[in-house]
Amino acid sequence: MAILPINIYGDEILRQKAKKVTRIDESILKFVEDLFETMKHSDGIGLAATQVGKRLQILVADISEVEGYENTRPMIVINPKIILTEGESEMEEGCLSLPGLRVNVKRPEKIRLKYNDIEMKEHIEDFQGLQARVLQHEIDHLNGKLIIDYLSKTEKEKIKPILDKMIKREFEVSYPVTSYQVVSK
Ligand code: NI
Repeated sequence: MAILPINIYGDEILRQKAKKVTRIDESILKFVEDLFETMKHSDGIGLAATQVGKRLQILVADISEVEGYENTRPMIVINPKIILTEGESEMEEGCLSLPGLRVNVKRPEKIRLKYNDIEMKEHIEDFQGLQARVLQHEIDHLNGKLIIDYLSKTEKEKIKPILDKMIKREFEVSYPVTSYQVVSK
C-alpha cells in the first residue's frame, strides 16, 4: 500500500469532472487500497479519487472514529448519483485539499444514493447526518466542486490571501501534498 500525495487548491484536477468506472481491474483494486491508506494517514473521514490525481468516480469514507458513529462501516463508493434529497442542515466543513480552512456549508440533511460497490454491484441506499454530509462533500469533489464554492462573493474575497498562500504551499500539514507547479500558458 502507498500513501499518495494530496492535490491542493490550485491544482487543475480538483476542478475537473471524474469519469465513470466501467470495470474493476487489479490497478483499481490497488488504487482503492491506497485511497483508504491515504485517508487514514491524513486523518480524513472521506477522500475522493480526484484529490489524489485520479479522474475516476471513486470515493472512500470512514466516520467510525467520530463520536456517535462508531458503528458506521467504512465505504467504497463508485459511480455515485444522488437521486433524492430531503431537508437542509448547515455544518462547518474542512477539506484535505484546502488545509487550515473551515467553511459553513448548507446541504440536504438526507440523501438517497445510487452507487456501485467494489464488485460493481449496484446499490440504492439512504444516508443522513454526518454520513450524508461526507458523501455529498466527496461527490462534489468528483464534480470538480469545492467547499469554497459555497461562499458568497464577499466571503470569497476575504479568504483570497489564504488561497493565494495555499497555491504556493505556504502552510504546514502532517500529510504529503503535491508540489506547486507553475503552469505556463
Ligand atoms: Ni474535501
